[in-house]
Amino acid sequence: MQGAARSPIASAPIGVFDSGVGGLSVLRHIRACLKNEQLIYVADTAYAPYGERSEADIEHRALAIGACLVAHGVKAIVVACNTATAVAIGALRQAYPSLIVVGVEPGLKPAAVLSRSKIVGVLATEATLASEKFRHLRDLLSAQTAVQFLSQPCNGLADQIERGAFSDAATLAMLQRYIAPLLQQGADTLVLGCTHYPFVLHHIETVTRAASMSPIAIIDTGTAVARQVQSMLTRQRLHTDSVAAGTVQAITSGDPAALKHAFLTLLQLEIAVTGQSF
Ligand code: DGL
Repeated sequence: MQGAARSPIASAPIGVFDSGVGGLSVLRHIRACLKNEQLIYVADTAYAPYGERSEADIEHRALAIGACLVAHGVKAIVVACNTATAVAIGALRQAYPSLIVVGVEPGLKPAAVLSRSKIVGVLATEATLASEKFRHLRDLLSAQTAVQFLSQPCNGLADQIERGAFSDAATLAMLQRYIAPLLQQGADTLVLGCTHYPFVLHHIETVTRAASMSPIAIIDTGTAVARQVQSMLTRQRLHTDSVAAGTVQAITSGDPAALKHAFLTLLQLEIAVTGQSF
């Protein structure tokens, strides 16, 4: 049993977490959408990447982070990680029924609507693609729309991005290896099913341009997640009335200096980062 959450209040912060820096691709949309909110970002860097861990491990980490955020008095938890959402969002909701808990899922629905070839490539971690939650959604949508979803586990890619190796030869080779076969099989739409991947979007676009004559749509759900958080806060009258600008602080189980640097390079934000074990 986790520590119980106090009744949420509007002036409380929103907690956002990921295994590492990937969730910053969601946090940037939350900041843009909810300008006056206080945000606490947790990067579980000491345990990243999650994608090649067992489901029991991932759930354990998600609950430990949930407890850390609840100790900071959050009113909402955003699981800015497809892998943790796929494996552990049910456990988080069960542990904290009084809190808003929003997750990130690969955008299969918008992809199915957009795809003309009816073939969609899904780039995600091994754990996301193997999860019951993902397989259920994929099979349901396939049956409803006749779209074929090609699952592509991108082992090692989140790790490269985590290390800041955005343009390394190894990263570019991985992108080529993971994406080209999907396009050869007729995919005209790619889903970014891991929050780390938007940080190599320009390289993904380069690979798709080189491998396909027709434009390839790329789906990222960061904006949709931010809107979902906004609408849930509004519905529960938990959005802040403050006119002061929002703030961001961060906590990591890894090296605070590395996360501080990631905020600066990826979001151009200078913030305070604390190291903590949880
Ligand atoms: N950013 C995460 C996701 O969206 C996890 C990547 C990892 O830790 O393997 O799935």
